[in-house]
Amino acid sequence: MKEKIKKFLSKKNKKKIVCLTSYSKSISKILDKYCDLILVGDSLANVLYGNKTTHNLKLQTMINHAKSVSLGAKKSLVVVDMPKDSYKNSKQAIKNAKKIIKETRCDAIKIENNSHNLNIVKAFTKSKISVMGHIGYTPQFKKKFKVEGKNKNEQNYLLRNAKKIEKAGAFSIVLECIEKKTAQKITKFLNIPTIGIGSSNLCDGQILVTDDMLGLSGFYPKFVKKYANLEKTIDKAVKKFDKEVKLNRFPLGKNSF
Ligand code: KIV
Repeated sequence: MKEKIKKFLSKKNKKKIVCLTSYSKSISKILDKYCDLILVGDSLANVLYGNKTTHNLKLQTMINHAKSVSLGAKKSLVVVDMPKDSYKNSKQAIKNAKKIIKETRCDAIKIENNSHNLNIVKAFTKSKISVMGHIGYTPQFKKKFKVEGKNKNEQNYLLRNAKKIEKAGAFSIVLECIEKKTAQKITKFLNIPTIGIGSSNLCDGQILVTDDMLGLSGFYPKFVKKYANLEKTIDKAVKKFDKEVKLNRFPLGKNSF
């Protein structure tokens, strides 16, 4: 097992695990100072490309962004999301994961789990490809947003599925929008770290979409805390540039050759 993954796993029950998404070198360079894990999330389909869903994302698009992210990340674990149609069967999943890892030099890949794709996790494990799972609200497979694990049936299903994913060899698992008590039970029941998004502070770690927490994406559901308002900051800077160009105050002599 890779040293970086061992270090990540050792945090379970000891230290909270810090994770954020990145789609580029400039952001991953900053995140790398603080994050245990940087996810090249397929949320880039929504955030960067303005798509309503993540469903039509191309493998090459993920590879291009992941290459850029890897350039800025030296110490954090870099994990790349596999696009929806890139892991429909084990053979295709392995071929595409190997391509992602070879071209981007990332440490691991992530897939969204449904009730049919446990064999894909097993196939990755067999091929020594480090894989992260993802349960709860999984945008690749769910048509409508819903908080998961609110009743006993859902709770039992999620607990069972999480354990199966762990047994299949995943090194960690994202819990997205799972009710607090259920997220706590899964976290206690598993030996691998759980990384929550909208699933309370009772998970082993937390992840947010960086563009959301920086106030840049315009998407701020209840589980997002805005740590900055970059939209406002950028607007202010661009407004000043606009004014200075029009008034011929930029560039000055010191900005010219
Ligand atoms: O695509 C993504 O950014 C994700 C996170 C929300 C966990 O999967």
